[in-house]
Amino acid sequence: MANSSNSSFHLLLVYASLLIPSSCYSQRPWSPSGDAAMFVFGDSLFDAGNNNYLKSALGRADFWPYGETFFKHPTGRFSDGRIIPDFIAEYLNLPFIAPYLQPGNHQYLAGVNFASGGAGALVETNKGFVIDLKTQLSYFRKVKQQLGEERGDTETRTLLSKAIYLFSIGSNDYLAPFSTNFSAFHSYSKKDYVGMVVGNLTTVIKEIYENGGRRFGFLNVEPLGCSPYARAVLQNNTRGCVDELTVLAKLHNRELAKVLKELTGQLKGFKYSNFDFYTSLGERINNPSKYGFKKGRVACCGTGPYRGIPSCGGKRTIKEYQLCDDASEYLFFDGSHPSEKANYQFAELMWMGRPGPHNLRALVQE
Ligand SMILES: *[C@@H]1O[C@H](CO)[C@@H](O)[C@H](O)[C@H]1NC(C)=O
Ligand SMILES: *[C@@H]1O[C@H](CO)[C@@H](O)[C@H](O)[C@H]1NC(C)=O
Ligand SMILES: *[C@@H]1O[C@H](CO)[C@@H](O)[C@H](O)[C@H]1NC(C)=O
Repeated sequence: MANSSNSSFHLLLVYASLLIPSSCYSQRPWSPSGDAAMFVFGDSLFDAGNNNYLKSALGRADFWPYGETFFKHPTGRFSDGRIIPDFIAEYLNLPFIAPYLQPGNHQYLAGVNFASGGAGALVETNKGFVIDLKTQLSYFRKVKQQLGEERGDTETRTLLSKAIYLFSIGSNDYLAPFSTNFSAFHSYSKKDYVGMVVGNLTTVIKEIYENGGRRFGFLNVEPLGCSPYARAVLQNNTRGCVDELTVLAKLHNRELAKVLKELTGQLKGFKYSNFDFYTSLGERINNPSKYGFKKGRVACCGTGPYRGIPSCGGKRTIKEYQLCDDASEYLFFDGSHPSEKANYQFAELMWMGRPGPHNLRALVQE
């Protein structure tokens, strides 16, 4: 008797935990007056489920095995578990920041996540299948307006000036021209194209600044050409890195660093953290064991060389795929996205490492 009631109690708990929204995993009650809110912009590295709600999305992760380790169910995050903004939210004592498009999510005091898998800084990038950065900014304006109506201008201004604005953007602007017929890319020099990408990001930063934003956190562009995806799909012969993408990523990162430095001189009170994702991911690809991974080049989930062909979950064109037993042994969960363990390492470096000129913890404490 005792046994059977115990086991049904256990079952109930399991069901209850499936029903708990992700925002309830946080550690302690969040206080709107004490803690900084977080607004998240960008692409699949930061998308917490916005693409689930697009009619036709370039990429989605709302099916198993995405989410298999931490959440135990798919959420739309492109990883086995938590993504970088989730860990930053934990450091900030915030609940997980919900996707803007999630139905019923109209509470913005802790911030909101606008990021969309496949998105770029240019509106042309994967147009029609993503929420591009400009549209993400227009959603931010709506959020600001709603906050103003609910909390008044003074409280809204305080919230927006204390908030952290996190960005991961650019990769798709460089990847998209390789898989789609994107004439704009081919009619510009690399330098001018990079200038356009960083220029459009700068416009968004300036507008957020004009709306009261002061504390910004950036990821620069990773070694795009060395992902399992790039090696398997874009590089036919050697299966080495795709050099053209490496060149573009380096150009982008140099331009971004320069522009951020210039903005510091132009915009009073503008503060930022620029995490060198390029170097951190590159080090782990080349020396996985130094960072606790068994595999740095092969993805946990996918098909073909390096499991780099995007088929994880079997919901795209290719239905067959391999899945590793233990995602934490892998740097990449699928061909383009880090595992939760890798995301945690990156978030920790952003929070308390030495990204220039500040880490996020210092930005918040100032
Ligand atoms: C790519 O687009 C151009 C016009 O923008 C068109 O002339 C060309 O045929 C297209 N190529 C492919 C392979 O679709
Ligand atoms: C933004 O991108 C568009 C192409 O989408 C380009 O025409 C424009 O010049 C860019 N803006 C800046 C400020 O670089
Ligand atoms: C890869 O190979 C296929 C067929 O062999 C070819 O159509 C395609 O253009 C090649 N792609 C690259 C990036 O070399």
